[in-house]
Formats: sequence, C-alpha cells, structure tokens
Amino acid sequence: MSLAAIEVVILAAGQGTRMKSSTVKILHKAAGRPIIDYVLDLAASITERLPVLVIGHQRETVRDHCGDRAEYAVQEEQLGTGHAVVQAVKVLAEKNGLAESLLVLSGDVPLTRPATVRSLLDEHENNSATLLSMMREEPAAYGRIVRDAEGNVLQIVEAKDATPEQKLIREVNGGIYLFRTEDLRNALNNLSTDNAQGEYYLTDVISWLRQEGKRVGAVIASDPVEALGVNSRAELALVEAELTRRHVQALMSEGVTFRNPDAVMIDTTVHIGPDTIVYPFTTFEGDTRIGRDCVIESGSHLSNVRIGDRVHIKTGTRAEDASISDDSSVGPFANLRPGTVLGRRVKVGNFVETKKANVGEGAKLPHLSYIGDAEIGRDVNVGAGTITCNYDGVTKNKTVIEDGAFIGSDSQLVAPVTIGRGAYVGAGSTITKDVPPDSLALTRSPQKVVAGWAARRREEIARQKTEKQREEKDTDGK
Ligand code: UD1
Ligand code: CA
Repeated sequence: MSLAAIEVVILAAGQGTRMKSSTVKILHKAAGRPIIDYVLDLAASITERLPVLVIGHQRETVRDHCGDRAEYAVQEEQLGTGHAVVQAVKVLAEKNGLAESLLVLSGDVPLTRPATVRSLLDEHENNSATLLSMMREEPAAYGRIVRDAEGNVLQIVEAKDATPEQKLIREVNGGIYLFRTEDLRNALNNLSTDNAQGEYYLTDVISWLRQEGKRVGAVIASDPVEALGVNSRAELALVEAELTRRHVQALMSEGVTFRNPDAVMIDTTVHIGPDTIVYPFTTFEGDTRIGRDCVIESGSHLSNVRIGDRVHIKTGTRAEDASISDDSSVGPFANLRPGTVLGRRVKVGNFVETKKANVGEGAKLPHLSYIGDAEIGRDVNVGAGTITCNYDGVTKNKTVIEDGAFIGSDSQLVAPVTIGRGAYVGAGSTITKDVPPDSLALTRSPQKVVAGWAARRREEIARQKTEKQREEKDTDGK
C-alpha cells in the first residue's frame, strides 16, 4: 500500500508502574538511548510525516526529550490504550484531515524492525485491521490472539480477562497495528470499559470489527523478540541485550573483531572502525568513536571518547569526554577525565590521571602522575610521580610545559607555572616559579654523605642487642 496514505500514532502516556521507577517508562535507556527513541526511529523509517505521540505521565519531560521528532496529543487521564488512540485521532483530524490508514505503535515496544512493519503493510490490502502477533512459550501478561475455526483472528483477550483455556494460547498481541482509519474511528466510538481493568482497550477494536463483518489480518513476527514489550526491569534488560547483540553483529560485519561478542557493553550510538580488536569486559558509551586498527583491552570504560587509528587502550582504562589521536597508547589503569586531549603518538602509562589537559604530539606520561589544567607541548617527558598542583583551595590554576621539556620524577609543579621550552626539572623538585627555556630547575636540598656511618650503626645495634639478652638472662636466673 502507498506510504503517503499513512499516519503513525505512538502510545506513550502511561507511567509504567511495573518499572517501579520515578522515571516514566519510555525514557528508560537501553543500550544508551531511551526506548522511545527506537520507536521514533521506526516511525521515521516508515513515513516522513511526523508521528503523533500520545503523552500523559511526565508529559513535559517526554516532550522535551522527543522535541520536533513528533507531534503531541495529550491524554489527561490514562483510561486505556483505546482512549489514548482517540486522543491522537482528534489531533490528526483537526490538523489536516485523516489519512486512509493509521499505524499504531507502542512506545514500549522498541525492537521491531522496519521490514516487519512493511510486511504488515503488504498484508493489509483489504483489511480493516492488521496486527503484529508473536508466538511465545511463556505468554505471560500479553493479550491472547483468539482465532476462529478457519484460523482468522476473532478477538484479542487481555490476560487479566482470559479464561483458563484462553490463557494457554501461545499466540499473543505485539501491540503494533495497522488500521483503516474510518473503520477504526467507528470501532473506537463503540469501546466500553466493561473489563477486568476498567479501561478502554484498543484491543477490543478487533472483535468489534469482526462483528461488523470486516476483515482482520495478522502477521506473526518471525523473531518474537521484535514484539517484546518493556514493562519491567527484566524486560528492559532483555531489550538491552538484543540491541547490544544487533549492534555488535553490525560492527563485526563492518570488520571489527570482538574476542568475546557476548561480553561487551556498547551503546548503539558508538562507532568502531575496521580491524579494531575489542577484548571482553569493555564498556563503550555515548558519543564514542573509535578509529581503525585499534586494540581495546579488558576493563576499559569509554564514555564520549574520540579515538583515532592504531591506538592501544590497555587494561583498566577509564576515559570520559576525552580525545586520543592516532598511534597513542593509554594505560593500563589510566584515568582520562573530561577535557583530556591527547595528540598523536602520546604515551600515557599506568596510574596516570589527567583532566583538562592538552598533551602535544609525542609527549610521554609513562607512570603515576596527576596532570590537570595543563598544556603540555610536543615531545615532553613527564617523569613518574609528577603532580600538577592545580588547586590552591580557591581557583584552579594552569600549568604549561613547553615543547621538549623534561620533568624529573616526583616533581610537583605548583600552578600557575610555566616550564619553558627544552628546560629540565630535576627529580624531586617543587617548582613554584616559572622555569626559563633550556635551563635546569632544581629545588631539592644538597645530598650529604657520611662515610662509614651505616657500618658503625650496625655494630652499635648488635652491641645493644647482646647487652639486652644478657640482662634478661640475669633477671630469669633470680
Ligand atoms: C498492551 C495490549 C496487549 C499487548 C501488549 C503488547 C491493550 C489493552 N493491551 O498491553 O494486548 O499484548 O500491549 O505490548 O492494549 N498507554 C497509553 N495510555 C493508556 C494506557 C497505555 O498511552 O491509557 C500506552 C503505554 O504508555 C504503553 C502502551 O500504551 O506505551 C501499552 O500500554 P501497557 O499498559 O504497557 O499495555 P500492556 O499491558 O503491555
Ligand atoms: Ca506494554
């Protein structure tokens, strides 16, 4: 059928009581995005027309989140899915008259593929309603699809209203329907609340249409996961697992190696380039983009990180709002905090923490450093245990280390301070004043050597021990 003749309605007014959450159900995230985003994407893949989102609980928050991706119909009271569709139909009718067909999606059913919705469209033709069903071993709380002797859909019975025999039916309602708009409107006018939940059920439209002699069709989802609804945390976890599985599959088909594809956490927003190897127990979140030929080792947690090509992220690295350029290596056990920008060929080693730090090409921070609010030039070497003392208790101050400078181990650079180009800081120094280019700054006290002191000390200790033993023996003997 022609897509131009379709409007999409998304039901999203419910609170989602079974989530036991202060956040409205459709804003709960799975694989990095609120579940409503996946439904909005599905709607956008079907038609360019904006879908009408039925909102109720936390409507302002939902509206803020969805923005101009939808138009809105408010359902003041959640009187049921049928009542929700009535609100959407009102908005559509006022706007531009109604299209011939209406596709109803559930805001809490995020895994349906566009191809599956298209198969509903193909099946629809002369039907008044065509719905998506699925076969489930455990039909749980889903509405049961009751068919007549010829196998035609007769009605949908909600689990709470089902007889013991109906409860055994394994074909259930997926919550996605295509309607001939005119027939749907007539059916909605005839809904009642005479059921276990006292609600206007959208599902009752089906039996009404059949009684009117209309045709109702159903497409059984080939993969039941496509019609999985999110009503509980357990179902949210299933959705997350499926989204992750799909995304990992897509990345593998684009040339990424996952050494254990079942053991990564990755948001659907994350991109990874070909020939990159991902170890298990890694987490990739948000706007993270990783280039090609990288290695990401176990225990790494990357949130909103840009990573170039041929980068090696070693075991246990955490990075957030950071960027790492080509041919660099980070970790093991490094903590790149927001505002860290590493140039090309940079080496950040174990137990290094950075924050708001711009690190120039070829610079090395190999071990045990804190580098915050810092500007580090090209080819700088930061020795083990170097600390930028950036905070004076009131303000954060900046440390500048110019190109080619060498900071000896265990140095404290008390900001604001600048270490000039090519300068040296001797190990163990506390630098409080700027160091001019090409000079050496050293603040440790001069070394003193006392010849033979240790040998004499050992002799003295031995003598004292013998003395003590003799005294103890005398006391025991008394
Ligand atoms: C619904 C179907 C059930 C189907 C299941 C599939 C009905 C009566 N039952 O049950 O047959 O198997 O979906 O997932 O339709 N909503 C509103 N306004 C309301 C009530 C609900 O907008 O007044 C929205 C909810 O926010 C949700 C969707 O409609 O996004 C479905 O509602 P929910 O309460 O989850 O229905 P189910 O019990 O899952
Ligand atoms: Ca549901």
